[in-house]
Amino acid sequence: MSVVLITGASSGIGQSTAVEVARQGTGVLLTYRGNPEGAEETVAQVEALGGTAVALPLDTGRLEAFPAFVDQVDRVLRDTWQTDRLNGLVNNAGLSRSAPVTETTEAVFDELLDALFKGPYFLTQALLPRLTDGGAIVNVGSTAAHPGGISPGFSAYGSVKGAVEVWTRYLAKELGPRGIRVNSVAPGPTRTRLGDDGFARYPELIAPLAANTALGRIGEGADVGRVIAFLLSEGGGWITGQDVTASGGFGL
Ligand SMILES: NC(=O)c1ccc[n+]([C@@H]2O[C@H](COP(=O)([O-])OP(=O)(O)OC[C@H]3O[C@@H](n4cnc5c(N)ncnc54)[C@H](OP(=O)(O)O)[C@@H]3O)[C@@H](O)[C@H]2O)c1
Repeated sequence: MSVVLITGASSGIGQSTAVEVARQGTGVLLTYRGNPEGAEETVAQVEALGGTAVALPLDTGRLEAFPAFVDQVDRVLRDTWQTDRLNGLVNNAGLSRSAPVTETTEAVFDELLDALFKGPYFLTQALLPRLTDGGAIVNVGSTAAHPGGISPGFSAYGSVKGAVEVWTRYLAKELGPRGIRVNSVAPGPTRTRLGDDGFARYPELIAPLAANTALGRIGEGADVGRVIAFLLSEGGGWITGQDVTASGGFGL
């Protein structure tokens, strides 16, 4: 059975990706940080589809904890799926913080850089020996890194997501000889728990974003999860090094 590791799958896009991946008959090794109940819910959703999922804690901003995490991954792969290989990796975990350039603190800058870019970079490096030749990686970027998605206050977040997009192309080039495909997905505004549940706390934000979206609404987790699952699947087998915008036409 193939197995995909999805970071940050206790809610939102990661949770939806876990469900879509499980629908394809793939096992899911998922991570959470502060929401174990959400991770349990994801496991239950996968099991309801007849699939298998295991959740592990991970903070992508704490690089010193990666060796122990990788040991746990090895153990779970062996005990649950009797394998030492991953077939896919989704670097999805993320948080957002906003402040104008003039008010962005070094602490916030470092938090975003570590959790969204430096962490995934070195986590991927650590997991690459376990990723099977012919496997796939999807990194989750953002339209906040694109010209049509620039909104005041997101300079640090958007710039770090831009780094993820560029890194994706380098990975695709360097891993091509192993047949490993690497793409990024850039979601537009999507109704998740991002920004400390921002859309639930400020529902008035939704209508203007929907009005700036060609398809007339903001995204749902599944809108993006389906795209990620496709890129991991055989159907996406000739796609690598691409940044795929999944936004319903946000900012067109
Ligand atoms: N929603 C949008 O509008 C939007 C747009 C563009 C891009 N994105 C990107 O989509 C990805 C998924 O976010 P989402 O929208 O689905 O938000 P979400 O519902 O808040 O999910 C975020 C996930 O990441 C985990 N996480 C947060 N900080 C982490 C850290 N330091 N280490 C490890 N895990 C961490 C969370 O875990 P716990 O809750 O368990 O702590 C949760 O599982 C993120 O990379 C985000 O930047 C979202």
